[in-house]
Amino acid sequence: MRHLLSSADLSTDEIGAVLDVAEQMSELSTREVKKLPTLRGRTVVNLFFEDSTRTRSSFEIAGKWLSADVINVSAKGSSVSKGESLRDTVLTVAAMGVDALVIRHHRSGAAAQVAGWVDAAVINAGDGMHEHPTQALLDAFTLRRRLGNLAGRKVAIVGDITHSRVARSNVLTLTALGAEVVLVAPPTLLPPGVDGWTTTVSHDLDAVLPTVDAVMMLRVQRERMAGGYFPSPREYTIGYGLTRDRLALLPEHAVICHPGPMNRGLEIAAEAADAARSLILEQVAAGVAVRMSVLYHLLAGEADVSRRIGSAA
Ligand code: CP
Repeated sequence: MRHLLSSADLSTDEIGAVLDVAEQMSELSTREVKKLPTLRGRTVVNLFFEDSTRTRSSFEIAGKWLSADVINVSAKGSSVSKGESLRDTVLTVAAMGVDALVIRHHRSGAAAQVAGWVDAAVINAGDGMHEHPTQALLDAFTLRRRLGNLAGRKVAIVGDITHSRVARSNVLTLTALGAEVVLVAPPTLLPPGVDGWTTTVSHDLDAVLPTVDAVMMLRVQRERMAGGYFPSPREYTIGYGLTRDRLALLPEHAVICHPGPMNRGLEIAAEAADAARSLILEQVAAGVAVRMSVLYHLLAGEADVSRRIGSAA
């Protein structure tokens, strides 16, 4: 693996390898000293042109726990605010001698463009409405832990599919692992070409919920909407929100996911977000282990994982 730009970059075996190493890495969070020497001497730059809480901080923690030097550069506070272009910013940072660039950008395709400009490994931490491959890996990791093998499992991805890079990456990763994915959304929030995706589509959340093993609620991305996608927030919640009443429709074993940040009361009720079957904070914790595994696979070479990550294995 040279870069991680799209979930399509990973074969089923490679996804499995990333998740397996993440399982080993996750043990580190239980230790008093959370440090492995694996990436000592390596430099990772988090280059964030869009806001983030989970992705940026978990990449930072992941790099630091693997002993890499991690530097954060964000649009606010950098020369981007003076008008410096993406290319000049990336070339400037790369000239300092970095091994990996973790990039989030509002433009779809930005990460792939960056990969063409630099020798460093590039990780897509979310590019516009295109993809968010490490989110999909951490979602698969979390679901696999709770449900076991995902082959044959049914996952509903619900809500603002049009603007969701999380949905696009999850469809690729979950179907690669053999899961059945159903997209549930109003017609206005389904992207053109969705008929060609390896999923089914429904507009009836109440009919789908009793059939799933997991429901993944998506944030309504109001910052990417000019308006007119649904009549009102209340109408949206009535049609597509995971409300307290809808919780009763889920099978007993079914779990709830949300990539965050959440609009509580819009796409997900507090009773659902905080339910015992909600995996939302487990997803956040998985983000560190999965991103450690991704950094390991990109930067630590092909050596035996048990040797490279020491006694955490
Ligand atoms: N899920 C996710 O990407 O969250 P952040 O925007 O906080 O990184």
